[in-house]
Amino acid sequence: MKRIVIMISGRGSNMRALFEANLPARIVAVISNNAQAAGLDYARQHAVETHVVNHREFAHRTEFDQALAERVHSFAPDIIVLAGFMRILGEAFLSRFSGRVLNIHPSLLPAFAGLDTHQRALDEGVRLHGCTVHFVTATLDHGPIIVQAAVPVLPDDDAARLAARVLDQEHRIYPMAIRWFLEDKITLTDGHVKMRGTQCFPDPIISPGEGA
Ligand code: GRF
Repeated sequence: MKRIVIMISGRGSNMRALFEANLPARIVAVISNNAQAAGLDYARQHAVETHVVNHREFAHRTEFDQALAERVHSFAPDIIVLAGFMRILGEAFLSRFSGRVLNIHPSLLPAFAGLDTHQRALDEGVRLHGCTVHFVTATLDHGPIIVQAAVPVLPDDDAARLAARVLDQEHRIYPMAIRWFLEDKITLTDGHVKMRGTQCFPDPIISPGEGA
Protein backbone atom coordinates (compact mmCIF):
# COMPACT_ATOMS: atom_id res chain seq x y z
CA MET A 1 0.00 0.00 0.00
CA LYS A 2 1.48 3.37 -1.00
CA ARG A 3 1.70 6.07 1.62
CA ILE A 4 0.30 9.60 1.37
CA VAL A 5 1.24 12.58 3.54
CA ILE A 6 -1.13 15.55 3.18
CA MET A 7 -0.07 19.08 4.14
CA ILE A 8 -2.68 21.73 4.91
CA SER A 9 -2.93 25.20 6.41
CA GLY A 10 -6.67 25.73 6.82
CA ARG A 11 -10.13 24.49 5.96
CA GLY A 12 -9.02 21.24 4.35
CA SER A 13 -11.82 20.64 1.87
CA ASN A 14 -9.41 19.24 -0.73
CA MET A 15 -7.95 16.98 1.96
CA ARG A 16 -11.45 15.80 2.71
CA ALA A 17 -12.07 15.02 -0.95
CA LEU A 18 -8.98 12.80 -0.81
CA PHE A 19 -10.21 11.01 2.30
CA GLU A 20 -13.49 10.32 0.51
CA ALA A 21 -11.94 9.23 -2.78
CA ASN A 22 -11.10 5.63 -1.82
CA LEU A 23 -7.60 6.00 -3.17
CA PRO A 24 -5.48 2.87 -3.51
CA ALA A 25 -3.16 4.11 -0.76
CA ARG A 26 -3.06 4.91 2.94
CA ILE A 27 -3.15 8.48 4.25
CA VAL A 28 -0.49 8.11 6.95
CA ALA A 29 -0.36 11.70 8.26
CA VAL A 30 -1.77 15.18 7.92
CA ILE A 31 0.76 17.89 8.71
CA SER A 32 0.04 21.58 9.12
CA ASN A 33 2.02 24.73 9.79
CA ASN A 34 -1.07 26.04 11.58
CA ALA A 35 -2.35 24.41 14.78
CA GLN A 36 -5.78 26.00 14.20
CA ALA A 37 -6.27 24.45 10.76
CA ALA A 38 -9.82 23.10 10.73
CA GLY A 39 -8.76 20.16 8.59
CA LEU A 40 -6.69 18.73 11.47
CA ASP A 41 -9.87 17.90 13.42
CA TYR A 42 -11.30 16.05 10.47
CA ALA A 43 -8.10 13.99 10.13
CA ARG A 44 -8.11 13.12 13.85
CA GLN A 45 -11.74 12.06 13.64
CA HIS A 46 -10.68 9.68 10.89
CA ALA A 47 -7.89 8.21 13.00
CA VAL A 48 -5.08 9.73 10.95
CA GLU A 49 -2.02 11.03 12.75
CA THR A 50 -1.67 14.82 12.71
CA HIS A 51 1.35 17.03 13.35
CA VAL A 52 1.98 20.74 13.49
CA VAL A 53 5.27 22.27 12.39
CA ASN A 54 4.75 25.95 13.13
CA HIS A 55 6.77 28.19 10.81
CA ARG A 56 6.68 30.97 13.44
CA GLU A 57 8.92 28.92 15.70
CA PHE A 58 11.83 29.09 13.26
CA ALA A 59 14.14 32.05 12.74
CA HIS A 60 14.88 31.18 9.13
CA ARG A 61 12.88 29.67 6.31
CA THR A 62 15.51 26.96 5.68
CA GLU A 63 15.24 25.78 9.30
CA PHE A 64 11.49 25.46 8.92
CA ASP A 65 12.00 23.64 5.62
CA GLN A 66 14.40 21.20 7.24
CA ALA A 67 12.20 20.51 10.26
CA LEU A 68 9.21 19.98 7.99
CA ALA A 69 11.23 17.68 5.72
CA GLU A 70 12.34 15.59 8.71
CA ARG A 71 8.77 15.23 9.94
CA VAL A 72 7.47 14.30 6.50
CA HIS A 73 10.36 11.90 5.89
CA SER A 74 9.56 10.07 9.15
CA PHE A 75 6.34 8.84 7.50
CA ALA A 76 8.17 7.43 4.46
CA PRO A 77 5.63 8.85 1.99
CA ASP A 78 5.38 7.84 -1.66
CA ILE A 79 3.57 11.10 -2.37
CA ILE A 80 3.21 14.43 -0.57
CA VAL A 81 0.00 16.25 -1.31
CA LEU A 82 -0.25 19.98 -0.69
CA ALA A 83 -3.91 20.78 -0.07
CA GLY A 84 -4.19 24.46 0.74
CA PHE A 85 -0.72 24.52 2.29
CA MET A 86 0.09 28.22 2.41
CA ARG A 87 3.86 28.26 2.92
CA ILE A 88 6.41 28.36 0.13
CA LEU A 89 8.62 25.27 0.18
CA GLY A 90 12.31 25.83 -0.54
CA GLU A 91 15.10 23.63 -1.85
CA ALA A 92 15.85 22.25 1.61
CA PHE A 93 12.46 20.58 1.45
CA LEU A 94 11.94 19.94 -2.25
CA SER A 95 15.34 18.37 -2.95
CA ARG A 96 14.41 15.56 -0.55
CA PHE A 97 11.15 14.72 -2.28
CA SER A 98 11.72 15.54 -5.93
CA GLY A 99 8.92 14.34 -8.23
CA ARG A 100 6.72 13.34 -5.32
CA VAL A 101 5.15 16.66 -4.27
CA LEU A 102 1.84 17.71 -5.86
CA ASN A 103 -0.15 20.91 -5.40
CA ILE A 104 -3.52 22.28 -6.45
CA HIS A 105 -3.78 25.93 -7.38
CA PRO A 106 -7.06 27.82 -7.92
CA SER A 107 -6.36 29.24 -11.38
CA LEU A 108 -5.48 28.09 -14.86
CA LEU A 109 -1.71 28.36 -14.49
CA PRO A 110 0.44 30.03 -15.60
CA ALA A 111 -2.22 32.75 -15.24
CA PHE A 112 -2.72 34.07 -11.71
CA ALA A 113 0.03 32.42 -9.73
CA GLY A 114 0.00 33.55 -6.09
CA LEU A 115 -2.94 34.78 -4.02
CA ASP A 116 -6.42 36.26 -4.66
CA THR A 117 -6.75 34.36 -7.89
CA HIS A 118 -10.53 34.65 -8.22
CA GLN A 119 -10.71 38.41 -7.76
CA ARG A 120 -7.77 38.88 -10.11
CA ALA A 121 -9.49 36.73 -12.74
CA LEU A 122 -12.62 38.90 -12.42
CA ASP A 123 -10.58 42.11 -12.57
CA GLU A 124 -8.88 40.92 -15.78
CA GLY A 125 -12.21 40.01 -17.35
CA VAL A 126 -11.17 36.49 -18.34
CA ARG A 127 -13.98 34.29 -19.67
CA LEU A 128 -12.49 31.03 -18.44
CA HIS A 129 -11.03 30.38 -15.01
CA GLY A 130 -10.30 27.16 -13.16
CA CYS A 131 -7.76 25.12 -11.28
CA THR A 132 -4.50 23.31 -11.90
CA VAL A 133 -2.83 20.26 -10.39
CA HIS A 134 0.94 20.41 -10.83
CA PHE A 135 4.19 18.99 -9.56
CA VAL A 136 5.83 21.35 -7.10
CA THR A 137 9.17 22.88 -8.01
CA ALA A 138 11.14 25.70 -6.44
CA THR A 139 9.36 28.31 -8.60
CA LEU A 140 6.09 29.24 -6.92
CA ASP A 141 3.02 27.89 -8.75
CA HIS A 142 5.03 27.10 -11.87
CA GLY A 143 5.71 23.35 -11.69
CA PRO A 144 4.88 20.99 -14.57
CA ILE A 145 1.12 20.78 -15.10
CA ILE A 146 -0.68 17.44 -14.67
CA VAL A 147 -4.33 18.37 -15.19
CA GLN A 148 -6.57 21.42 -15.33
CA ALA A 149 -10.29 22.06 -15.13
CA ALA A 150 -11.87 25.18 -16.55
CA VAL A 151 -15.13 26.86 -15.58
CA PRO A 152 -16.83 29.77 -17.38
CA VAL A 153 -16.83 33.16 -15.68
CA LEU A 154 -20.47 34.22 -15.52
CA PRO A 155 -21.79 37.79 -15.78
CA ASP A 156 -23.04 37.96 -12.18
CA ASP A 157 -19.99 36.29 -10.61
CA ASP A 158 -18.27 37.71 -7.59
CA ALA A 159 -15.09 36.19 -6.16
CA ALA A 160 -17.01 33.95 -3.72
CA ARG A 161 -19.33 32.51 -6.37
CA LEU A 162 -16.48 31.92 -8.77
CA ALA A 163 -14.34 30.35 -6.04
CA ALA A 164 -17.13 27.92 -5.14
CA ARG A 165 -17.48 26.78 -8.74
CA VAL A 166 -13.72 26.33 -9.06
CA LEU A 167 -13.56 24.47 -5.73
CA ASP A 168 -16.07 21.89 -7.01
CA GLN A 169 -13.64 21.19 -9.84
CA GLU A 170 -10.67 21.05 -7.45
CA HIS A 171 -12.43 18.31 -5.52
CA ARG A 172 -12.89 16.43 -8.77
CA ILE A 173 -9.48 16.69 -10.42
CA TYR A 174 -7.18 16.45 -7.39
CA PRO A 175 -8.19 12.91 -6.40
CA MET A 176 -8.07 11.98 -10.08
CA ALA A 177 -4.50 13.22 -10.52
CA ILE A 178 -3.36 11.58 -7.30
CA ARG A 179 -4.87 8.29 -8.40
CA TRP A 180 -2.90 8.52 -11.65
CA PHE A 181 0.26 9.10 -9.65
CA LEU A 182 -0.45 6.18 -7.32
CA GLU A 183 -1.11 3.93 -10.30
CA ASP A 184 2.20 5.00 -11.89
CA LYS A 185 0.37 6.60 -14.82
CA ILE A 186 2.19 9.91 -14.40
CA THR A 187 5.74 10.74 -13.46
CA LEU A 188 7.92 13.80 -13.42
CA THR A 189 10.70 12.96 -15.85
CA ASP A 190 13.40 15.46 -16.86
CA GLY A 191 11.22 18.30 -15.63
CA HIS A 192 8.18 17.22 -17.68
CA VAL A 193 5.00 15.32 -16.90
CA LYS A 194 5.07 11.94 -18.62
CA MET A 195 1.76 10.12 -18.92
CA ARG A 196 1.36 6.41 -19.53
CA GLY A 197 -1.73 4.94 -21.14
CA THR A 198 -4.88 6.72 -22.23
CA GLN A 199 -6.81 8.78 -19.73
CA CYS A 200 -10.44 9.75 -19.98
CA PHE A 201 -10.96 13.46 -19.45
CA PRO A 202 -14.53 14.35 -18.50
CA ASP A 203 -16.22 17.73 -19.09
CA PRO A 204 -15.65 20.57 -18.51
CA ILE A 205 -12.39 21.17 -20.28
CA ILE A 206 -9.69 19.06 -18.71
CA SER A 207 -6.46 18.60 -20.54
CA PRO A 208 -3.55 16.26 -19.97
CA GLY A 209 0.02 17.28 -19.42
CA GLU A 210 2.41 16.73 -22.29
CA GLY A 211 3.66 13.40 -23.55
CA ALA A 212 0.39 11.45 -23.37
C1 GRF B 1 -7.90 25.78 -2.52
O1 GRF B 1 -8.56 26.70 -3.33
C2 GRF B 1 -6.58 25.37 -3.14
O2 GRF B 1 -6.63 25.39 -4.54
C3 GRF B 1 -5.65 26.44 -2.66
O3 GRF B 1 -6.06 26.74 -1.35
C4 GRF B 1 -7.45 26.40 -1.20
C5 GRF B 1 -7.51 25.43 -0.07
O4 GRF B 1 -8.82 25.07 0.26
N1 GRF B 1 -4.28 26.00 -2.77
P1 GRF B 1 -9.07 23.81 1.20
O5 GRF B 1 -8.26 24.06 2.47
O6 GRF B 1 -8.63 22.59 0.48
O7 GRF B 1 -10.54 23.83 1.47
